[in-house]
Amino acid sequence: MYSFLIHGGTRLKGKVEISGSKNSSLPIMAACLMAEGKTTLKGVPRLSDIDSMVKLLGDLGCHVYRHEGADSVVPGPSLDGPLDITVTDEKKAEASYDIVKTMRASICVLGPLLAKRKKAVVSIPGGCNIGDRPVDLHVRGMQKLGAQFRTENGYMVGEVSGRLKGCRMYLGGAQGPTVLGTINVMCAAALAEGETVLVGAACEPEVSDCANMLNKMGARITGHGTPEIRIEGVEKLSGVEHRVIPDRIECGTFMIAAAITNGELELKHCNLDHLIAVADRLEEVGVKVSRQNGTIFVSSNRRLNPVEMTTQPYPGFPTDIQAQLMALLAIGDGMSVITERIFPDRFLHVGELNRMGARIRKEGPTAVIQGVKELQGATVMCSDLRASAALVLAGMVAKGTTRLDRVYHIDRGYEKIEQKLNAVGAQIERINDR
Ligand code: EPU
Repeated sequence: MYSFLIHGGTRLKGKVEISGSKNSSLPIMAACLMAEGKTTLKGVPRLSDIDSMVKLLGDLGCHVYRHEGADSVVPGPSLDGPLDITVTDEKKAEASYDIVKTMRASICVLGPLLAKRKKAVVSIPGGCNIGDRPVDLHVRGMQKLGAQFRTENGYMVGEVSGRLKGCRMYLGGAQGPTVLGTINVMCAAALAEGETVLVGAACEPEVSDCANMLNKMGARITGHGTPEIRIEGVEKLSGVEHRVIPDRIECGTFMIAAAITNGELELKHCNLDHLIAVADRLEEVGVKVSRQNGTIFVSSNRRLNPVEMTTQPYPGFPTDIQAQLMALLAIGDGMSVITERIFPDRFLHVGELNRMGARIRKEGPTAVIQGVKELQGATVMCSDLRASAALVLAGMVAKGTTRLDRVYHIDRGYEKIEQKLNAVGAQIERINDR
């Protein structure tokens, strides 16, 4: 088990290369189950969640091969070799409990399996650290396309007789649209008979990235990036080459890293268009954000104004950057208010930030943050991926040393985070305390 020792009080300055998107890569890898022949994915980050998806695809009869060395399409030193995915055996259809319990994104194989193999046996995901995360909208969408479901020993078993059939459906839920649900149903509809219209679809860039890859494979999808996606079903999809989009959440996390350390970072290979709400809130806080081509420049001069922020579906402020913004506002100059509308219980970082001297009070889905002059190093614990990122940020600005336990949560979603931060001035040691 690894921990981080974070020596606080450092100021970040320099260039950071943003990796390819985890949340784009995972469903895109699952979508490869539907393609005939080899698909080559570029920019897939090296993360433990990606390793879990590689394992799952292996269990489902795919040959997955990661090329070594630099990926030469984008100028600059990308460290990740391309990933080749080829389906070699179409008989398997089970996503086991062992994998689903470690990674909920395993649910992404549901649509591709039903569409291509006519059967999917997927362990029902259990509880999750960021709150209740049901998959009812995924299942309802597949049922509307004609799949039949039953539950057997903790697994959902979906079957299709003949081909899935396109239809017009509403895909939203009580908390708004679903990102992976939209991608899952869109994938299934790509191989269905006739036209499917998804109303209330998620507009996240990860949905568009997957639609763009499916279209290269031969799918006929329009309207992605808007709440109404139209999919004209085709009979076959073929392997292609595709580069995943930059990780907007990693990028947003580094933007806040620059701000919280009073630093100055140049973030390479990213897209500010995907972070417009984050840039807007940071500018309100007093952080300078600008861009030139694919580079974002972020700097801060210590005065941090209080703000109000509510997480929303894209293009609103992402829930995946809520915890990191809270760490920043914890040392702001007044009282800020954060409301979490996507996962109303996603506040496990509040208690840990308070252990470091923050003054944050939670009231239902809202946190009231009274800015303090300084945070102090303490031993704190990772609870989920983004909460852990917030604690790394807090540790960099805290007085003294912060010990962060259970960093495996961070390794799920941030590629070489301590190396990237140390290269621009942080002092973070990874220790193995077993
Ligand atoms: N929801 C339902 N029923 C469903 C599906 C979702 O009620 O069948 C609810 C959820 O409980 C939540 C809301 O709908 O309240 C939105 O959840 P969504 O389905 O959009 O989440 P997701 O697709 O499972 C992805 C990301 C999350 C990110 C959310 C929201 C991946 C692998 N995961 O999850 O990322 O927080 O979208 O943007 O893409 C992370 O990277 O740390 C992470 C948790």
